[in-house]
Amino acid sequence: MQELKILSIVGTRPEGIKMAPLIRLLEKTAEINSVLCLTAQHREMLDQVLSLFKIQPRYDLNLMKESQSLTHITARALEGLEKIILQEKPQMVLVQGDTTTTMAGSLAAFYHKIPVGHVEAGLRTWDKYAPFPEEINRRINSVIAELHFAPTDISRQNLLREGLPAEKIFVTGNTVIDALKTTVQPGFVFDDPFLREFDFNSSRVLLVEAHRRENLGRPLQEICFALRDLLQAFPDTFLFFPVHKNPAVRSTVYQYLEGHPRARLLEPLDAFSFHNLMARSYLILTDSGGIQEEAPALGRPVLVLRDVTERPEALAAGTALLAGTSRESIVEMASGLLRDSSAYAAMARAANPYGDGMASERIRDIILHYFGRRRSLPEPFSPVSPN
Ligand code: UD1
Ligand code: UDP
Repeated sequence: MQELKILSIVGTRPEGIKMAPLIRLLEKTAEINSVLCLTAQHREMLDQVLSLFKIQPRYDLNLMKESQSLTHITARALEGLEKIILQEKPQMVLVQGDTTTTMAGSLAAFYHKIPVGHVEAGLRTWDKYAPFPEEINRRINSVIAELHFAPTDISRQNLLREGLPAEKIFVTGNTVIDALKTTVQPGFVFDDPFLREFDFNSSRVLLVEAHRRENLGRPLQEICFALRDLLQAFPDTFLFFPVHKNPAVRSTVYQYLEGHPRARLLEPLDAFSFHNLMARSYLILTDSGGIQEEAPALGRPVLVLRDVTERPEALAAGTALLAGTSRESIVEMASGLLRDSSAYAAMARAANPYGDGMASERIRDIILHYFGRRRSLPEPFSPVSPN
């Protein structure tokens, strides 16, 4: 029987991390010819992921430029991807999540009537500007996709509400948990000398990552002020902040936090280091989507630095709180947890609302079933209650 050609399209760090376990599995599957095309909407941060997970792209559109606009990414990705799709003629295109690469990848496939599999489908805030532009990217992907790989039942329900056919929606868990299962190790040794020497028993580590477009400018400034207030109020805390490569993030974060004796600004960490740093942190503050999913699996409380989230599962599991982006609200919520050990303990429970490490396998099997190469569908992901 002829191999199925599956073209995966990846542009940014989170797509790399979340597609890595699936791409590796597709590469090992005899019935599948797996082809990877990068848009390279991100460059260094994506290359870091690919080298870590030992993944080789067949194509690289290399489109990143400094302070790029959404139009630049969309237009260049669409044009570049069309050429690859025409050349490779895949049976299916896979895209992940909600970036502009993902949306352009879906659209490029649609223009050539290639079915799209959407990994991490159905996340919604119902607010078209938060997160911006991701909420609309997700909706475009859902309109186009043939197979919807919803990480949780909530995301499945969102898709049903939009009238999508139930038989094309599959609850798989999120592939980010597949990746996380391979990266966290108790005896992990950090490459970064400062992290390697750091005594994690002597301080309570606050780990921060923030980069969303809607938080650039004033909200990110407020976040930095809040972090300074917390460092001052709690002398036993230490702040680690691996700063995203976006120049608009870097200018604000360096302006307000550089040089603080109990803050260390780092370059973006490779995923192994970042996951192991999460596991050693006391409290995580972030506007990142992926980190909101990973932290509960590690039993680390998260304060979500946004006004709305498309990931309500961790809020429901009691391991995350929506802290907003004002200095006052962040300081108030973080102080509550830093002061009150029982409130902290109630949040610091391992929960896996987002996955069980088997998402890639389910997705691979659903694709094979779709093409008539498997008789049955896998059992859907179903979360177990927190410990
Ligand atoms: C993108 C995604 C966002 C995702 C985030 C993950 C869109 C619109 N946004 O946002 O959904 O949460 O990635 O991190 O798809 N840069 C570098 N090197 C890199 C990466 C970025 O220098 O490796 C700089 C460049 O100047 C680039 C800028 O960061 O122009 C912004 O990158 P871009 O992909 O446009 O937006 P992100 O905010 O990273
Ligand atoms: N991450 C990483 N190094 C860092 C910060 C984050 O590897 O210094 C990982 C994190 O563990 C998660 C992913 O990057 O898997 C999230 O990506 P990002 O925050 O860039 O995007 P988002 O998830 O918000 O779209």
